[in-house]
Amino acid sequence: VKVTYIAADGTETTVEGKTGDSVMHTAVSNDVDGIVGECGGAMMCATCHCYVDEAWTDKTGERQSEEDDMLEGAASEVKANSRLSCQIKLTPDLDGLVVHMPEDQF
Ligand code: FES
Repeated sequence: VKVTYIAADGTETTVEGKTGDSVMHTAVSNDVDGIVGECGGAMMCATCHCYVDEAWTDKTGERQSEEDDMLEGAASEVKANSRLSCQIKLTPDLDGLVVHMPEDQF
């Protein structure tokens, strides 16, 4: 499952992720800068904030209310397509997924 991460400065990184892994975990294990994932995916931080590319928001689905609560503390602007990337699990349907990373995670 390929995932492309686009940094705030436009740098694109495409990595191969595994079905069942989160978008956060896939970034961290491939050393993609811009996603921190400080709490390890427990929805206790907002350092895995990302913006799902408009073309993919239908497939990734809506964010949960718990994500809204954490995103209140996010360092960067929260938009309609903001998600906690640890809450997006890769499925074969998401092959080619594109997410944008915010400027700051702290
Ligand atoms: Fe902490 Fe996603 S890694 S909320």
